[in-house]
Amino acid sequence: MNKVTVFSTYEKLSQYVADIIEDIFKKSFRVHFPKLVLPTGSTPLGLYEELVKRELDWSSVMTFNLDEYIINPNHPESYHSFMKENFFNRINIYPNRCHFPDRNTQWYEDKIAGTMGGGTGSGIDLCILGIGSNGHIAFNEPGSSFKSRTRVVDLDEQTIQDNSRFFDSVDDVPKQAITMGLGTIMESKKIILMARGQSKLNIMNVAINGEVTEDVPASILQNHKNVKVYYCE
Ligand code: PGA
Repeated sequence: MNKVTVFSTYEKLSQYVADIIEDIFKKSFRVHFPKLVLPTGSTPLGLYEELVKRELDWSSVMTFNLDEYIINPNHPESYHSFMKENFFNRINIYPNRCHFPDRNTQWYEDKIAGTMGGGTGSGIDLCILGIGSNGHIAFNEPGSSFKSRTRVVDLDEQTIQDNSRFFDSVDDVPKQAITMGLGTIMESKKIILMARGQSKLNIMNVAINGEVTEDVPASILQNHKNVKVYYCE
């Protein structure tokens, strides 16, 4: 894994990742429909703004979200709502090509692999990740198996605290979620980890330079051949 690329502004980081997505669209349209894995959280908001501004053609693109709470999808803090409000309702993507992890976890795995309904099995072109302050990627909390697949998980106490800023109170934060597994994420052809803010520096350093261990889920990325890590303050 390459070391971290540091951007001087959040805007530059967001534009750079948008360039990579644009490039993937150009290259893969000729071969297959692009498949992207997308994150929620505060870090990717600038990227979504930038992509909306560029007015790209999303009509052939399939997206897969990393995770979703066990929550009514219409709840304002569900990741369905987050993605619609910040991105999907603002681009020309087909709603039925926007996928979220579901209790039918095998359905999600098969959709990602692209093996359903005569699919070509092309897999994920690009997976974009954030990192939690406890080293989680998606909702794979510390201790998650490196072989894990899409599944229902209990959220870590740290994650519940971190995400309580989006809810009226910490008691309102869902305690469970459905997440893509670490094994599922690692099958992506290319992975980008985006991180913003000094509060992420320590955990990024541990994940990138420390031991590869299930105690630090993001450390699994050291084993992937095509990972880029982008950071700004
Ligand atoms: P953040 O979340 O972008 O809001 O910091 C990242 C994560 O928890 O994966």
